[in-house]
Amino acid sequence: MRGSERVLDRLEREQALDPVAGRAGAFWSAALRSPRLRDLLSGRALGHPLHPAAVIVPAGTLLSATLLDVTGGSALRPAARRLIGLGLLSAGPAAVAGWSDWLDTDGAERRVGLVHAACNIVGIGCYTASWWQRHHGESKMAESKMAKGKVAKGGLAQRRVARGGLAASLVGAGALGIGGWLGGHLAYALGVGVDTTAFQRGPADWTDVLAAGEVTTALRQVEVDGVPVLLTRVDGRIVAINDRCTHRGAPLSDGERDGDCVRCPWHGSRFALTSGDVVQGPATRPQPVYEVRERAGRVELRRSEVRALRANPVGPSPDRVPVG
Ligand code: FES
Repeated sequence: MRGSERVLDRLEREQALDPVAGRAGAFWSAALRSPRLRDLLSGRALGHPLHPAAVIVPAGTLLSATLLDVTGGSALRPAARRLIGLGLLSAGPAAVAGWSDWLDTDGAERRVGLVHAACNIVGIGCYTASWWQRHHGESKMAESKMAKGKVAKGGLAQRRVARGGLAASLVGAGALGIGGWLGGHLAYALGVGVDTTAFQRGPADWTDVLAAGEVTTALRQVEVDGVPVLLTRVDGRIVAINDRCTHRGAPLSDGERDGDCVRCPWHGSRFALTSGDVVQGPATRPQPVYEVRERAGRVELRRSEVRALRANPVGPSPDRVPVG
C-alpha cells in the first residue's frame, strides 16, 4: 500500500473523529432543516451535486492570488488582495453546500469528509488572515504617503506586512490543496455524489419478470439481470424504475408511496414513478426508467437508454466492443 493510501485508509478507520462528526452533524442538521434549502444546496436543479461546481470560484481565485504573489511583483499585490476577497466571499456558499452533502454520509465517508472540511476551514482562515494583513499594509502605506517624511518607515512596515500576507496565503494554499485531495478521494474512491446506478445496466432485450397479476399499487422489488427494479402500478399501468436510490443507494421499495411518487427511506428524496425524475432532493439524479409491456399475462421489461459505461457489477457486458 502506498503512503497516500495508508493515510487515507487510516482516516477512513479513525473512530476518534466520530464524536466530532456527531456534533457537527447535529449543528448542520438543525441549520439546514428546511427541505427547500437542502434541495437548493444539493444541486437538484443542476442535475448534479452543487458543491463540486461551487468550489471552482473560491479555489480558482485564492490559488490565483497565491500565484500572483509568487510570480508577480509588488505592483500585483492589490490585484492579489482583491482576488482573495472574492475567494473568501464565494467560499461561504460553497462550504454550506458541502456540509449539506456531508450530512447524508456515514462511516468512512463521514470521517474523510470531516477532515476535508477541516482542511478547507484552515485554508480559508489563512487566506482571511492574509487578506487582513494586505489590507492593513495598504492602509499603512496610504497613511505614510500622506504624512510627509514618513514614507521610508511606512514602506518598511508595508513590506513586513506583505511578507506576512504572502506566508499566510502559502499556508492557506497548502491546506486547500490537502482539502482538494481528500475531496477527490470522497468523489472518485468513495463515490460520494456519484449516481449509484451509474454502472447498472438492466436487460437490453425484453425479459420476462413475473405475472402481471402480482403487480399492484404496492412497491415491489424484483431482480432482473442483477439489477434491482421497482415495479408498481400508476393509474393501472405497470411502471418500472431502478430500485437503488441514485443518491446513496437506498432500496426505494422499502420507502413510501406518495401519490405518483416514491419517497426514499433514507433521506426522503421523492422520485416520480413514471419518469424517474427527482421531485424533491437531496438526490440530484433521476432514477433509470425501464420500458414495460404485458404479454400473455406476464410482465416484460428492458432498459430504455444506452450509456457506454453502464455495466453490471458482475458478468461480461454483451455490448462491449473489443479494442484493437
Ligand atoms: S439514499 Fe439518500 S435520498 Fe435516497
